[in-house]
Amino acid sequence: MSERNPAQGTPEKVTGSGSAPDTAAPAPDTTPPAAGAPGGVRATESGARAGAPDAVTPDTGPSGTPGDTGTDAAPAGASGPPETEATGPRPSVGGANDGTPPDAAAADLGSRPLPDGPDLGWVNPLRDPQDRRLPKIAGPSGLVIFGVTGDLSRKKLMPAVYDLANRGLLPPGFSLVGFARRDWEDEDFAQIVHDSVRDHARTEFREEVWQQLAEGMRFIPGDFDDDQAFEQLRAAVHELDKSRGTSGNYAFYLSVPPKFFPKVVRQLRKHGLAEAPAGSWRRAVIEKPFGRDLRSARELNRVVHEVFDPEQVFRIDHYLGKETVQNILALRFANQMYEPVWNRSYVDHVQITMAEDIGIGGRAGYYDGIGSARDVIQNHLLQLMALTAMEEPIAFDADSLLAEKLKVLKSVKLPRDLGEHTVRGQYAEGWQGGEKVRGYLEEDGIDPGSTTDTYAAVRLEMDSRRWAGVPFYLRTGKRLGRRVTEIAVVFQRAPHSPFDSTATEELGANAIVIRVQPDEGMTVRFGSKVPGTSMEIRDVSMDFAYGESFTESSPEAYERLILDVLLGDANLFPRHQEVEESWKILDPIEEYWDTHGRPAQYASGTWGPGEADEMLARDGRSWRRP
Ligand SMILES: NC(=O)c1ccc[n+]([C@@H]2O[C@H](COP(=O)([O-])OP(=O)(O)OC[C@H]3O[C@@H](n4cnc5c(N)ncnc54)[C@H](OP(=O)(O)O)[C@@H]3O)[C@@H](O)[C@H]2O)c1
Repeated sequence: MSERNPAQGTPEKVTGSGSAPDTAAPAPDTTPPAAGAPGGVRATESGARAGAPDAVTPDTGPSGTPGDTGTDAAPAGASGPPETEATGPRPSVGGANDGTPPDAAAADLGSRPLPDGPDLGWVNPLRDPQDRRLPKIAGPSGLVIFGVTGDLSRKKLMPAVYDLANRGLLPPGFSLVGFARRDWEDEDFAQIVHDSVRDHARTEFREEVWQQLAEGMRFIPGDFDDDQAFEQLRAAVHELDKSRGTSGNYAFYLSVPPKFFPKVVRQLRKHGLAEAPAGSWRRAVIEKPFGRDLRSARELNRVVHEVFDPEQVFRIDHYLGKETVQNILALRFANQMYEPVWNRSYVDHVQITMAEDIGIGGRAGYYDGIGSARDVIQNHLLQLMALTAMEEPIAFDADSLLAEKLKVLKSVKLPRDLGEHTVRGQYAEGWQGGEKVRGYLEEDGIDPGSTTDTYAAVRLEMDSRRWAGVPFYLRTGKRLGRRVTEIAVVFQRAPHSPFDSTATEELGANAIVIRVQPDEGMTVRFGSKVPGTSMEIRDVSMDFAYGESFTESSPEAYERLILDVLLGDANLFPRHQEVEESWKILDPIEEYWDTHGRPAQYASGTWGPGEADEMLARDGRSWRRP
């Protein structure tokens, strides 16, 4: 295979038949069930299906397919409508959107009318939507990855696709289309996917799973400016609809530098790829960062929403795909014992930490000028804060979660004195993992005068009855003591102690610590008497570890998120309103930093600059050592 100079023209290579698109009816699926699928059974279970026909604008694309006037107008036998678990599953019809292969769906026709529409379809009377024994399996669909040669795609996306296939969670005709500036044939692309799966997949390699997946792989060579390449992509999608039964259901994953997001979505529109043929869906998956401030985020959202409706856009914050992050909601809202103490009457403060031990590696071009606050606080940490602080949603669905998270973000109060209550730092040289490492300003590709932060700590408060007066301290940094992400809810001291002060001098504050990564789990810290004749009370901890309590290992965040995109389940994806509210919190801090001094230096391998310790000491507190 040859690496091609992007400046050269795209070679003529059409993977599809080039014939007129066949979009109305799902193509029959003649391929065998994915290896690893439980008995080849496909669940008819339906997740929340955003971005499906009711979000589709009239079809004016080059396909010539009649415009889709919305789900409820779809003819019986066409692909199913979007569904949310909150509103109750609607019958699956035709199988294009619901995980039922078309042939099985056809045999499964019942006659229950939709609650809010004409009698469109049928439901499997043997299928209980509440039944968790059958996992959700994506319906007929394909995934197009732009930027498929990139770091994220090789290390996370392609392995996650394989892991999903290996777990039997993809439909048998699932198709993966790569788009990149390489002069590759489909087989070359398959080899690249193969290598990345071998190197990075979580589950064992199984030849039969691989073979079935590889049959649905196509590669489109081209630059984002290349109209011909997008026409080839369109032809490939139609060809896959016919040969693999993907039924026109496609997710477009933009794993590309953010400056190309607008270009790619506009090309998708121009070439009719953003228009879902009647009864099918199209979705766009966008990687972070979503802008670099409020203004650019709004502009990006405007451009993306010109092409895709909000429900069709899935913004990836991979933290939300982590089991431990989803467990925050389970912990808080499925149990009774935490809620009474989860408020200002008992909580002294909350610390949310994401620490990395690595430096910027080869990502100077991306990182310099962005920095740790924009890279981590604006998205991951504010999302963790929102989940920790929010009220109980009325249901576990995307709209209810959005409503509650938004309330938290809108209630955030910045410190009056940003100089006293925020800190930014830059790692200097030091020792890490037994090795001498360079400082940020000495890294390759970094301007020696750069003021980009590699460490940031901020104190936020909320104007709400639950949290008034309780500081939330958020910190993140590179080249810190170790890689760890945790949320520590630190409680007030007991109001009165019957013990001598000497008995409790070793006693710290009670705390609940949610360990997001690594060593996923939760610790509850409290005081206990030390065995012996004297009364001495010391901190002890009770531990819950995922690895010990459950036999099944947690899926990678990207596995969960890619599956949710294919299912149309938007619960774990931040909406544009959240993104914009988060920038409203960070923008004033960044503006303050831009006009006040330089980042404080900290030695690599330590826990950040002394200024961050002083920031907490001024409040009479100290950072936890995770
Ligand atoms: N890497 C991570 O761990 C990570 C984590 C979180 C979020 N993200 C986000 O994910 C996205 C991708 O990151 P990445 O690290 O994978 O980036 P990357 O390694 O720089 O890859 C960028 C990809 O875009 C392609 N590309 C660039 N310009 C192009 C053009 N004009 N036409 C066609 N293709 C073009 C590149 O193709 P060529 O090979 O031809 O240059 C490459 O495949 C970014 O938005 C990033 O912020 C990445």
